Amino acid sequence: MKRFFIPGLTVKAPRCSGTLMGIVAALAISLGGITAHAANPKDASLSKEDLACLECHAKPNLEKTLANGEKLSLVIAAKGFAQSVHASGGCEGCHSEIDLATHSKEPKQIASKRANSLERMETCRDCHKKTVTQYEDSVHSALVRSGSEKAPLCADCHNPHATLSAKERPAGNAQPVVCQKCHQGIATAFAESVHGRSGDEALECKDCHQTHGIKAASLGQNMKGQCVSCHKETVTSHAVWLPNTERHLEAISCPACHSPGTTRRVNLRLYEGAAARQSSEKVGVPQFVKLTNWADATGAGLDGRALWSLLQEFNRGNGEGKTVLRGRLEVQTGVQAHQLGEKALAVKACDTCHKEGAASFQSVSVTMAGPDGRPLRHDASLGVLNSIESVGSVGGFYAIGSTRIKLLDVLLLMALGAGILLPLAHLSVKLMSERKRARDAAADSAESGKNPS
Ligand code: HEC
Ligand code: HEC
Ligand code: HEC
Ligand code: HEC
Ligand code: HEC
Ligand code: HEC
Ligand code: HEC
Ligand code: HEC
Ligand code: HEC
Repeated sequence: MKRFFIPGLTVKAPRCSGTLMGIVAALAISLGGITAHAANPKDASLSKEDLACLECHAKPNLEKTLANGEKLSLVIAAKGFAQSVHASGGCEGCHSEIDLATHSKEPKQIASKRANSLERMETCRDCHKKTVTQYEDSVHSALVRSGSEKAPLCADCHNPHATLSAKERPAGNAQPVVCQKCHQGIATAFAESVHGRSGDEALECKDCHQTHGIKAASLGQNMKGQCVSCHKETVTSHAVWLPNTERHLEAISCPACHSPGTTRRVNLRLYEGAAARQSSEKVGVPQFVKLTNWADATGAGLDGRALWSLLQEFNRGNGEGKTVLRGRLEVQTGVQAHQLGEKALAVKACDTCHKEGAASFQSVSVTMAGPDGRPLRHDASLGVLNSIESVGSVGGFYAIGSTRIKLLDVLLLMALGAGILLPLAHLSVKLMSERKRARDAAADSAESGKNPS
């Protein structure tokens, strides 16, 4: 069944649950003389008008063949409707266009189920303006506008004829279940993660992504902001052992250290330098694909030279300021992003990254945000991190020893010498100061006073 909660109540519907079938059968039998189907005394009883509609629409088998050959069920479960939050407004609340005098005599042309849902979704706006506005600002809605047949519409997550209030919703309607329909792999990974395992305390998808205003996950620092909104001590707790904490937390996505066994990649993101905002492609102007294919003529992946030409191209006639690349170390798949484990399993060893040929730096891609915010990717060759041509463009991102840019490694050592608590730094600073001491005893005390201890 395509819709989530809407029971496909045609006789042929293969996955109809037994209970629903039972309700319908009972209804079909009782419809003859009964006025309201209030099995439960607190159910709202249906109005005369609604019952008139249900006279035909609660009958089993009523369906319509659409222009594309799909069969659209026209059966509404009266009991489910009577119990729903929408019973108070009646059928009229959403189907006010229907005139019983002509209805069913002038069949309406409907292209497909999807087209129908898309058109009917407009009625939600009458009463849920705020929610509709949030939805319209989401990646799902952007996908719908760009023609996706798969991104969810209101009716994919809510059955308008059986919407229960939050209090009455059974556990099976919990959020991850709704999202799971389309994001199965992620939902499974999440359920087993440190956030998904904690029973009643378990997080829901919306705690990080929202429900209606969902944004592309890898855009900017959105997700990090969500993490830190709950884990407020993140910067101070990491600073205890991780030097240059802010810089690390900016250049490494949280799951890249917190998802055990994950594989990582370097994502070089195009940024508008002046605005410090991720560059994004305008609707209908596919410049990223065009330009990267042009720069990477052999298709072997962008190397330093190609990357340099690409940036030149992006900066050509760009009055707003320079386009730059900002590196981020992240996990390779959406599933990995949700496998967060306990803190004891997190990556702490510096040489996971700061080592020649570190595995974390063996996959590199260049990305730009697409019109819906999701990344457009092009592979880069490994050499891009090492190449002298790209030093300028990827200068904000390197890791000691993992690249061959010796100049940068020297700068890094100097940075370490300047006051970072690290055994290596201690050692080199000690050596330096010992030599210094030998040369200039007078300066000795002042020098060690500045050293970290
Ligand atoms: C006499 C039986 C009958 C009654 C009463 C009736 N309908 Fe229908 N309805 C039909 C039939 C038959 C169709 C399919 C017509 C077609 O092929 O397009 C239909 C189609 C529909 C459709 C889908 C196509 C469209 O026109 O949008 C909706 C929605 C609908 N009815 C709602 C209602 C509502 C709301 C009421 C009460 C105000 C109502 N119906 C009363 C028989 C009925
Ligand atoms: C809260 C708004 C709302 C109310 C109230 C409502 N409907 Fe609907 N109805 C919809 C939407 C939205 C769809 C399309 C669902 C989809 O996308 O599959 C729909 C679909 C239908 C259809 C199937 C044909 C079609 O166009 O998809 C029928 C028949 C129908 N409604 C009849 C009724 C009847 C009868 C009532 C009253 C008992 C009623 N509706 C009350 C919003 C509503
Ligand atoms: C005629 C007004 C009206 C229309 C149109 C309408 N609704 Fe509602 N809806 C209500 C009312 C009233 C409530 C109950 C009060 C509330 O929660 O705002 C409600 C509640 C809801 C809830 C919340 C249930 C809960 O408490 O968690 C959902 C979900 C919902 N509507 C979905 C939809 C969808 C989807 C559409 C479009 C197909 C739609 N509604 C169209 C009036 C409407
Ligand atoms: C991807 C699934 C999904 C889509 C698409 C979706 N909703 Fe929801 N909606 C939910 C869930 C789940 C809840 C339950 C509350 C929660 O957990 O945030 C909800 C809650 C609501 C509520 C209750 C109040 C609130 O905002 O929490 C309303 C009203 C509502 N939705 C209307 C709509 C309308 C109208 C649309 C289409 C514009 C829509 N929803 C699209 C999943 C969805
Ligand atoms: C603890 C916060 C958190 C929760 C809860 C969470 N996510 Fe995510 N989600 C993330 C992060 C972090 C990313 C990766 C962002 C990035 O690339 O930096 C992500 C990425 C995604 C993506 C994009 C994957 C891709 O291919 O890039 C989807 C889809 C997604 N999440 C769906 C879900 C669903 C469905 C749930 C509920 C089952 C969920 N998320 C729960 C944090 C969360
Ligand atoms: C009817 C199917 C459907 C449902 C239900 C659905 N999604 Fe999606 N979602 C999609 C599709 C299709 C995409 C675009 C392809 C992709 O990235 O997987 C998408 C994209 C996303 C993205 C952006 C991916 C990125 O690359 O950044 C996030 C985040 C997301 N969904 C979260 C959720 C959450 C949270 C829920 C539940 C509230 C949910 N989705 C429910 C179909 C769905
Ligand atoms: C360089 C790897 C690395 C990065 C990046 C990283 N963490 Fe951690 N994190 C760790 C390690 C290792 C621990 C365990 C420290 C300990 O127990 O001594 C930890 C501990 C934690 C804890 C447990 C409680 C605490 O504060 O000690 C939380 C929560 C946490 N991190 C959240 C985050 C968030 C949120 C982000 C992204 C903003 C993040 N981490 C980025 C490695 C990292
Ligand atoms: C809605 C609040 C919330 C958000 C958002 C959130 N977390 Fe958590 N997180 C928790 C709770 C609650 C726990 C379990 C209790 C605890 O141990 O602190 C937890 C546990 C953790 C742990 C295990 C800590 C330990 O002591 O072993 C890590 C690591 C972690 N979260 C990282 C993240 C990351 C990374 C993000 C963003 C992608 C994130 N969290 C987003 C609430 C949140
Ligand atoms: C998960 C990978 C990872 C781990 C683990 C890691 N780093 Fe880094 N580190 C990076 C990356 C990536 C950068 C580059 C940041 C930038 O310049 O954008 C960096 C940069 C640095 C810098 C230079 C900052 C600057 O001024 O540019 C120092 C110093 C450093 N790391 C020390 C350490 C130490 C000490 C540890 C262990 C306690 C450690 N790092 C653990 C990835 C890591």
